[in-house]
Amino acid sequence: MKKSIALAALLPLLSACGPKEKTFRLALAVPLTGDIAAMGQGMKRGADLAVKEANASGRFKFKVELRAFDDRADPKEAVNVANQIASDSNIALVVGHLNSGCSIPAAQVYAKAGLAMITPAATNPKLTLQQMETSWKWPKNIFRVNTTDDVQGSFAANFVLKKLKLGTVCIIHDKTPYGQGLAEEFEKEFKKRGGTVKSFDGIAIGDKDFKALLTRLKSRRPDALYFGGIYNEGGLIAKQAKELGMKAPLISGDAVQSPEFFKVAGSAAEGAYVTNVGVPPERIPSAKKFLEDYVKEYPGKDMQPYDHYTYEATMIALLALEKAGIADPASNAVDRSRMIEFLKTLKYDGVLGRTEFDEKGDTKNKAATVYIVKDSKFVPVN
Ligand code: ALA
Repeated sequence: MKKSIALAALLPLLSACGPKEKTFRLALAVPLTGDIAAMGQGMKRGADLAVKEANASGRFKFKVELRAFDDRADPKEAVNVANQIASDSNIALVVGHLNSGCSIPAAQVYAKAGLAMITPAATNPKLTLQQMETSWKWPKNIFRVNTTDDVQGSFAANFVLKKLKLGTVCIIHDKTPYGQGLAEEFEKEFKKRGGTVKSFDGIAIGDKDFKALLTRLKSRRPDALYFGGIYNEGGLIAKQAKELGMKAPLISGDAVQSPEFFKVAGSAAEGAYVTNVGVPPERIPSAKKFLEDYVKEYPGKDMQPYDHYTYEATMIALLALEKAGIADPASNAVDRSRMIEFLKTLKYDGVLGRTEFDEKGDTKNKAATVYIVKDSKFVPVN
């Protein structure tokens, strides 16, 4: 009798300690609701696929769980979510956020908790530059698998001047760290290469009517219109510019390279140019399996601009967890600090090609691509 009571008391403990029962978590922090949820949901599909494959492969002696947090593309909410993530000691690493405006403040919360973050989408250079400041007293925990807007903005400016041979531009941005930052990078390079910037205007996220602004810009007769911002406002600007009879082509950046842009702009999307960081995954041999698996896993779902980046960031997070996350297999704790050190020396070949991080935490892969919209598709131009 005594024996069976003792055994019964021990059973839950034994099963809790069994290696197969352990669960370690990765966090994904992106907008899952709100105006740009389509892009965040695409990122979640990428991350889910990576975790599903890792669990099925049997390479872990424990279960990996992806816990998704919704920052609603709002910097304040991103900090709230970051605090929740940082306080869960079972979370080994964060993949996110999407927006630079969310990533920059959230990164500090993670740094204070010694937690690595890998963004698969935030392109403002300031995100990683902040950890190079002498005031940064915490681990250098920020990593980024996508290249940045200094590269993307100057690439776009050169394309407009040298390939399209358009010498004057009106610039609009959405006043966010991303949209304004990208517009400023474009402006800097455009002027440096001899182009003329006729105007530089900010709009607000959520604005719907740009006709007064566009009427004023039309009277300046620019050769091109550049927009730094996201597909909702970008789509409305394309549509309303066409309605006003503006002939100047619209050029924009990565956060417009979503099929959602076509839904907002309708036929006015045709002929627009959109840059994105990196190379189209269809051109990368090592991305072939991912593209096939994605279609199988999510039939009929459109790929959004950062799905493959998020798959890659999650694959890298899983590798860091496997190689460095569990310093003491007998313990239930993840070693966040060893994971950061592991990422600093990473050499990884995956769907983005080779990923290695420089001293700032940015990928050394500096490619960019420009697409033209044709028949509601983004067709690479370079
Ligand atoms: N690249 C966009 C940003 O940094 C999504 O906000």
